[in-house]
Amino acid sequence: MIKAIIYQSKTGHTKEYAKNLSKELNIPCYSVSDAKEKINKKEEVIYLSWIRATTLVGYKKINKKYQIICLGAVGAYPKSKEYIKQLKEYNHITQELFYFRGGINYEKLNKFYQKLLKLVGKAITMENPRDKEMSRLFETGGNFVNPKNLKPLIEYIKEKMG
Ligand SMILES: Cc1cc2nc3c(=O)[nH]c(=O)nc-3n(C[C@H](O)[C@H](O)[C@H](O)COP(=O)(O)O)c2cc1C
Repeated sequence: MIKAIIYQSKTGHTKEYAKNLSKELNIPCYSVSDAKEKINKKEEVIYLSWIRATTLVGYKKINKKYQIICLGAVGAYPKSKEYIKQLKEYNHITQELFYFRGGINYEKLNKFYQKLLKLVGKAITMENPRDKEMSRLFETGGNFVNPKNLKPLIEYIKEKMG
């Protein structure tokens, strides 16, 4: 039985997805730090986290501690099969991985992350000069959170758990 949805979120997008998922599946959700007290080791969980430079933040650690049934990765890039495959390979992910588009909120990032993200954005827009949406996103920020994106994960869990 899945005990919890555990999430890690820097600027709130992943938290929003986790809260919505919690409501839909009727499973409590906790941040990684709250889960330490609430959820015993080896319990079954769903893990949602954000992507930082292709790394699914916290995955390695959480994967050792709990039994992850499936994962949700939240990033700024648009969803694509290729990107999900790349994330799975880069992070050595063995479980089913779902991707949800988050957004960029510069107000919630410190100066260091703001600079880093602007650089990431510059590199991306240099690679894809015609992708106006991406360049705008990295310049001023944006929010693509949509609870409907959770549907494939919800269906996967409902099927798996009966
Ligand atoms: C330093 C940094 C690096 C990032 N690298 C990536 C990346 O490689 N791929 C991606 O899709 N999004 C990347 N992002 C965007 C975040 O994943 C996105 O803002 C996400 O919505 C953050 O989730 P949160 O609001 O729950 O913290 C990066 C963000 C920061 C601050």
